[in-house]
Amino acid sequence: MSEIKQIQLNFEEKFRDISSKEDLQILKTEFFGKNGLISTQFKKMGSLNENEKKIFANDLNNLKDFVTEKIENKFKEFEDLIINEKLKGEKIDVTLPIRSRSNGKIHPVSQVIDEISSIFSEIGFSVVEGPDVESEYNNFTALNTPEDHPARDMHDTFYLDEKKKTLLRTHTSPVQIRTMMKGKPPFKIIVPGRTYRCDSDQTHAPMFHQLEGLHIDKGINMGHLKGCLNYFIKEFFEVKNIKMRFRPSHFPFTEPSAEVDIGYRLKDGKIVIGEGDKWLEILGCGMVHPNVLKNTKVDAKKFQGFAFGIGIDRLAMLKYGINDLRAFFETDYRWLNHYGFDPLDVPTNYRGLSR
Ligand code: DAH
Repeated sequence: MSEIKQIQLNFEEKFRDISSKEDLQILKTEFFGKNGLISTQFKKMGSLNENEKKIFANDLNNLKDFVTEKIENKFKEFEDLIINEKLKGEKIDVTLPIRSRSNGKIHPVSQVIDEISSIFSEIGFSVVEGPDVESEYNNFTALNTPEDHPARDMHDTFYLDEKKKTLLRTHTSPVQIRTMMKGKPPFKIIVPGRTYRCDSDQTHAPMFHQLEGLHIDKGINMGHLKGCLNYFIKEFFEVKNIKMRFRPSHFPFTEPSAEVDIGYRLKDGKIVIGEGDKWLEILGCGMVHPNVLKNTKVDAKKFQGFAFGIGIDRLAMLKYGINDLRAFFETDYRWLNHYGFDPLDVPTNYRGLSR
């Protein structure tokens, strides 16, 4: 009997008695280790003549494949066995009672951001964010507000360095710049986020929230802006009709610029949106100034569009009858429990936003 055949029989005999992964590892080393029974056979090859070598190599390779396959399959068998044993011990008892309902609440500002995102995503806007720490260039200069422009004073800026090169963004408008610098038109985005101004009273907080909107494409005009805002306000306040008026205004980054008021009346001390003859200012908007497009390398001859900026906290106060802005940021648990929303009720347009 050839030596190779003997090695095979030897392997088969030992293999039959293997009962654990550890034993199998030992057997593997015995045959394939550095001085293993099969490994040493390969070393012999050099001393054979061409003819012998061919036959020997063929037999030896067959043996090697045979033994390797047996060992690998056996390893897999052991591993499956171990996993199955483990799974048996990890059964989940589906009859366990659920944990009592969590008391966490969604803050009205987060709720309103979710609502707004849902409304605008229905008409093709995507949600983009930008950093709170901004460069003076993105926050002002690129937005057509040069150094000596009076609009800079109105913003009561928190500067972060002596040279006034970095600041806490005073509005979400710099994200217009970031977006247009990065991509190619068309752009159709909304930007919710935190903004900062050195100002604090019942209706102003040093940190507050804004929503920026930007739509740049070919042939966009004021009519599109009006239609878009009209849709948004109706959806947001969940009313069929609203009264809206555009008042001429000025922002350095839009031309023409407007402020938008919505009509309301007071009923039993509460605000009813969409009726009555009182007016409430809720946002600023306009057609993006050609200088802003130029600064961001957008071809102002081909593309134009509108932008708007809304105070989110103000919208939340109006919709949910909250009358002091400061309470938003006092982290009073009782307040949050009263005004907060159920975390499992995610706002969607078709299910209703605020139910
Ligand atoms: N950034 C302005 C502010 O904070 C709001 C604003 C007005 C944004 C008009 C706009 C806009 O995009 O077109 O007062």
